[in-house]
Amino acid sequence: MARGSEERELGARRHELLGGLTGDVLEIGAGTGASLPHYEHAARVVALEPDASMAKRLPAKAAAARVPVEVVEAAAEAMPFPDESFDVVVSAFMLCSVVDPPAVLAEARRVLKPGGRLVLLEHVLAEGRMARWQERLTPLHRKLAGNCHLNRDTRATVAAAGFDTAGVERTRLPGLTPLTCDGVQGVAIKTSS
Ligand SMILES: C[S@@+](CC[C@H](N)C(=O)[O-])C[C@H]1O[C@@H](n2cnc3c(N)ncnc32)[C@H](O)[C@@H]1O
Repeated sequence: MARGSEERELGARRHELLGGLTGDVLEIGAGTGASLPHYEHAARVVALEPDASMAKRLPAKAAAARVPVEVVEAAAEAMPFPDESFDVVVSAFMLCSVVDPPAVLAEARRVLKPGGRLVLLEHVLAEGRMARWQERLTPLHRKLAGNCHLNRDTRATVAAAGFDTAGVERTRLPGLTPLTCDGVQGVAIKTSS
């Protein structure tokens, strides 16, 4: 995400969602660690990131974090963690760029404890005219921006993966481009079946 946007307004959004999280937290696709300064009460955060060029920037952010952070270099489709080992999984601007969102969400569900929380901050397919532009431009955008899709209906995909999405709302993401400012944010709960 753009540094300017992050500093201006997205940081406040991350803080709102992450600052109060408690227990064992797994952040998938942690990137260069933009979320790490915002955890305040987690018992520990595991920052999962498969891209070595991004992961190498995580230890410095981890050292500066207010909670213990462990960096794990792995993909979210095959997480090296036991079943039911986390209280919370965090996905920020990540489900737009993975190859197989249902596979990632199945893994998130597997590693979450019963009733565990999936915290989402993602840009998604807009409603109305902008959606048509997003559909048209997604093939080019994927090539230019690390497989980032402009046209994903992430809330529906999360619901189909076995989460209660009543706590996930549509939102306008501050500081982003017109193609990426339609978002979802909130907490989805792992359902029992
Ligand atoms: C747009 S960046 C967002 C980074 C960070 N979450 C943030 O909020 O700034 C997308 C991240 O997802 C990661 N990613 C892509 N595919 C992934 C996968 N299969 N498993 C885990 N992370 C993945 C990328 O390497 C990248 O770090």
